[in-house]
Amino acid sequence: MVFGGFAAASLAARIDDAKPALMVTADGGSRMGKPILYKSLVDESLRIAEHPPKHVLIFRRGLDPQMPVTAGRDVDWKEMSQQHAGAQVPCTWLESSEPSYILYTSGTTGKPKGVQRDVGGHAVAMAASMRHIFCGHPGETMFTTSDIGWVVGHSYIIYGPLIAGMTSILYEGVPVRPDPGVWWKIVQDHKVSVMFSAPTAVRVLKKSDPAWLKKYDLSSLRHLFLAGEPLDEPTHQWISEGLGKPVIDHYWQTETGWPVLSAMPGVEKTPIKFGSPSFPVYGYDLKLLRESDASEAGDDEKAVVVIEPPLPPGCMTTIWGDDERFVKTYFSTFSKKQVYTTFDWGIRDRDGYYFILGRTDDVINVAGHRLGTREIEEAVNMHPAIAECAVVGVADPLKGQLPMAFAVVRDAALVADPAARMKLEGEIMKTVDQQLGAIGRPGRVFFVTLLPKTRSGKVLRRSIAALAEGRDPGDLTTIEDPASLEQIRNALSSTQTKGNP
Ligand code: PRX
Repeated sequence: MVFGGFAAASLAARIDDAKPALMVTADGGSRMGKPILYKSLVDESLRIAEHPPKHVLIFRRGLDPQMPVTAGRDVDWKEMSQQHAGAQVPCTWLESSEPSYILYTSGTTGKPKGVQRDVGGHAVAMAASMRHIFCGHPGETMFTTSDIGWVVGHSYIIYGPLIAGMTSILYEGVPVRPDPGVWWKIVQDHKVSVMFSAPTAVRVLKKSDPAWLKKYDLSSLRHLFLAGEPLDEPTHQWISEGLGKPVIDHYWQTETGWPVLSAMPGVEKTPIKFGSPSFPVYGYDLKLLRESDASEAGDDEKAVVVIEPPLPPGCMTTIWGDDERFVKTYFSTFSKKQVYTTFDWGIRDRDGYYFILGRTDDVINVAGHRLGTREIEEAVNMHPAIAECAVVGVADPLKGQLPMAFAVVRDAALVADPAARMKLEGEIMKTVDQQLGAIGRPGRVFFVTLLPKTRSGKVLRRSIAALAEGRDPGDLTTIEDPASLEQIRNALSSTQTKGNP
């Protein structure tokens, strides 16, 4: 499954890595009432891909009446189902360790990783978490407002509720259309007992009248679960008070497939601390290790969140087609200890509550979507005018983080005046849209003539991000040319006119 917001080039990269036997797509999807032509995107990606599948199975929703069809390759879902109506298909019994699915996620390199999950462990994790964490019971209804192309959708729109014998609601759209009450009307009309969303959606709702939260009968709803990015205290408080229901912040990753840190109301009702996803979930031997020497951090000390192997059932078993990369990526952070690193900073307070403080690597979180800044950099670099660039995540009140690009142009004449800069900025944004998808589009592109780097040539992304957020750039003893930082400062404070927002 691939997120529908990716551009053809990103989809092609995933196709070439997964080498699927068949692709399944709808003719289109709908966003804010506007059709998005998925089939055309698939066609384009198959033109670029080196390993296109033999067939594409298409479900026509009537969103693309002019949909192009490739004879011999494209197969129509409805025709197929008529041909095979009434067919008996026996179950195929698999070893519990067989792969069940691959889901791509971003990391430090530009090449996305195919997170591979097993069959048995995954089912166990889903069944157990539905009962002990989400408190979902057979016959009830779950409403997860994610996209099935992301892990939250995989686990808690599809597998989790269905394994638990629940009805699952798939929602296509945004939280404020036709009005900011639409989700709560769904809860009322379908008697939803478990709801799962993302902090970014709540921050969007927070801009409208809180009376919307009270308009519908929410008596069926037990909890609202939020995950995917840090849940700030004011947002947590606003939604808890507005709904009058427990709102549970929980923390996990594509790699783990189910919660790592969470309150577990199905086991014990522990008090919620705003800003904290509570405690390690059973099955996870969670530790906070000091970056310097892998020793265990004390209370209130910022350290790397790691999991002592073995990982519990349901967590990734390897990277699709690359066991070595799996070990190298996730188990080699510390030379002294072979532990799984989450790539997140965390802290534990005296009461045992954990707080997540952001990533240790170059991954950013834009409106709950996980993106690698390297992937965005590669997309920016596709523009012929750009020699090199650095992309960093900068705090954003609505989206959590927003990518900002700092680009070195090949020819300074191209950015000589504000009009030229604005034109190039717009072009670069378009290039990112085409290469990666609009979700990766930088909020701004700033032009500089050199990037801050260490003497060994590593771009100082953390320092750039700190400057962009108005913080101290940190330890600069290894910087090659301090003038480069000055350029970043100037670019940020200059009146470089804004391109496409
Ligand atoms: O940095 C953490 C952040 O999102 C990352 C995982 O994103 P993804 O693979 O898309 O999986 C999302 C599954 C919910 C983490 O490494 N993150 C996720 N949940 C939280 C969070 N950061 C803070 N608080 C959370 N509750």
